[in-house]
Amino acid sequence: ITDSVMAEQLALSWTQVCRILQEELFQGNAFHQSDTHIVIMMGASGELAKRKIYPTIWWLFRDGLLPENTFTVGYACSRLTVADIRKQSEPFLKATAEEELKLEDFFTRNSYVAGQTVTKNIHESCMSQAGWNRIIVEKPFGRDLRSSERLSNHISSLFHEDQIYCIDHYLGKEMVQNLMVLRFANRIFDSIRNWDHIACVILTFKEPHGTEGHGGYFDEFGIIRDVMQSHLLQMLCLVAMEKPASTNSDDVHDEKVRVLKCISGVQANNVVLGQYVGNPEREGKATKGYQDDPRLPHGSTTATFAAAVLYMENERWDGVPFILRCSKALNERKAEVRLQFRDVASNIFRQQCRRNELVIRVQPHEAVYIKMMTKKLGMFFNPEESELDLTYGNTYKNERLLLDVFCRSQMYFLCSDELREAWRIFTPLLHRMEQQKPQPIPYMYGS
Ligand code: BG6
Repeated sequence: ITDSVMAEQLALSWTQVCRILQEELFQGNAFHQSDTHIVIMMGASGELAKRKIYPTIWWLFRDGLLPENTFTVGYACSRLTVADIRKQSEPFLKATAEEELKLEDFFTRNSYVAGQTVTKNIHESCMSQAGWNRIIVEKPFGRDLRSSERLSNHISSLFHEDQIYCIDHYLGKEMVQNLMVLRFANRIFDSIRNWDHIACVILTFKEPHGTEGHGGYFDEFGIIRDVMQSHLLQMLCLVAMEKPASTNSDDVHDEKVRVLKCISGVQANNVVLGQYVGNPEREGKATKGYQDDPRLPHGSTTATFAAAVLYMENERWDGVPFILRCSKALNERKAEVRLQFRDVASNIFRQQCRRNELVIRVQPHEAVYIKMMTKKLGMFFNPEESELDLTYGNTYKNERLLLDVFCRSQMYFLCSDELREAWRIFTPLLHRMEQQKPQPIPYMYGS
């Protein structure tokens, strides 16, 4: 039960649901309710902190899912106060008037420190000697294989692997987690999921907005690092990996790494790059192109759209193209995985059959459906396409990754080997792009 709508369907109040979860967490000894826990948040003045992290910690606190004595220390270069932090994040906290007192209580447990270096200082001055310490790291994990290795070596010289949680927030999404269950708990899917049956696998990420507000960061990284090498590659691993020996984090990581090792570096001739331009027929932000942002270097060739084809050299997937597509400033918000099956053999329906597809829609409106041909109703004997639909009516909350850290579960976090392999696949392409600066194809905002 992950949200209030589902709770309502089950005739439980959200308070009752939270109580059940609290029992699971506290009495199941996932962590000790009476211990003091301190969350130190680096980059506390930034976009991610105000939009996602403060709201997440607040929701967990509001619903009683954190140990009672949990305190948050914000840390960043900017000289701010807790009041500034509260002001920035308040629009995203979605607190109701009745929750006002609780929100006050939440912010009395917050403090803020301004400063420069971080992991080294934590290691030297902030480590709890009596309890546990866990470090959550958010991307970018470097810019290429070398810088990522440097970062990994630095972090692992200070902390043990079991203290390090490299987060990819896509792994916290309900449908991404569902990929493993769909695949390994359903014989029908597992037996047909190989090159014999599958024509291609398409992984898509689309956003309707541009890089407004974080163009500076984006221009240094580009869409391949920002989304393809991270979120889409993680989803690909879950679609393509073999069944792990168990759902234990180490076993899952082993299989993900094995699959990544079978992927050779992306070939430049298998990549299409694009950059959005303003649409004069629209209003507001959509009239501005990527390059209209005054903070960007003149004539930037950073891609805001990328499509790439990856191949896996292993028995199951030999020759099957995995098509990864990601873009800013398109017509809609969508993330999905689409397995397209091969055409039916000896088509007796005179070419009227379309390919079957298994679609896992990650967002919005989570859904799993199969596109298949059935007989057209009535006198006809013609096939028509219909959908076997397992639509999930609800949207789910994404606080689970932070709770996983409290509960010491690393399954939905990246291990250092995964990071290394992910960078190995993309680094030659990224270096080539940096040297040759290929001109991305312009596309219209909202197209
Ligand atoms: C982030 C990217 O990792 O994911 C952003 O840096 C992107 O550019 C975001 O907008 C998308 O996340 P979500 O959960 O809104 O799909």
